[in-house]
Amino acid sequence: MRAGTELDMLPPAGAFTPGSLDGDLLLLAGGSGITPMLSIVKSALAHGTGRLTLVYANRDPASVIFDAELRALAVRHPDRLCVAHWLDGAQGPPTAEGLAPLLSAHAGRDAFVCGPEPFVAVACRSLEAVGLPADRIHIERWDSTVDVSGEPVATAEVDLDGQVRRLPWPAQTRLLDLLIAAGLNPPYSCRQGTCGACACRVVSGEVELVHNEVLEDEDFAEGYTLACQALPRSETVVVTYS
Ligand code: FES
Repeated sequence: MRAGTELDMLPPAGAFTPGSLDGDLLLLAGGSGITPMLSIVKSALAHGTGRLTLVYANRDPASVIFDAELRALAVRHPDRLCVAHWLDGAQGPPTAEGLAPLLSAHAGRDAFVCGPEPFVAVACRSLEAVGLPADRIHIERWDSTVDVSGEPVATAEVDLDGQVRRLPWPAQTRLLDLLIAAGLNPPYSCRQGTCGACACRVVSGEVELVHNEVLEDEDFAEGYTLACQALPRSETVVVTYS
């Protein structure tokens, strides 16, 4: 595209927005589900008068996206923005019972929920348990359905969270999807090969990356790869997250 090129653009669209920026809101985000929440937070703080409570679940402190920006907003608006972090590493995966004490004081607000499907399910159960009516719970879903049913062509041997698992690996299944489908909890964020959050190391065997905007030659030389983009290219691939 050259400077001066004219583009026809559609206006922003979507239904995951508060009816009013002046009402108090309860926001629940899991991982990259923070993206629409940050837009709501910034819009409400800039153009509204409501108070915002954000409950934000992540694997560990290093995986908290927009951490610095949220801290700065909370410092600038101490009476209007409260951020409560939930870290799986310290507290275990979120549960409806565990979230309830963070939500119960705000049961009169509209709630917005965005994140991976298991987080959304737990958050909604907790909101209902503390008395929020279903019509005040707004959910942003993304389709995370991944087909891992292809014929295995390789075996992945994965060292993650102190456990080693051997998994049959279909040719067109990305390593991250394989691990999630097996019930493991690997780190990731964008799933597009652009952030590096899913990086792990190939100890032996070969993979091919579908897309990579993160790793350099020296990273590959040390064995690093992106689980969200890795397809098997040898019979056995040994991978470690340690
Ligand atoms: S999750 Fe972002 S590069 Fe893999």
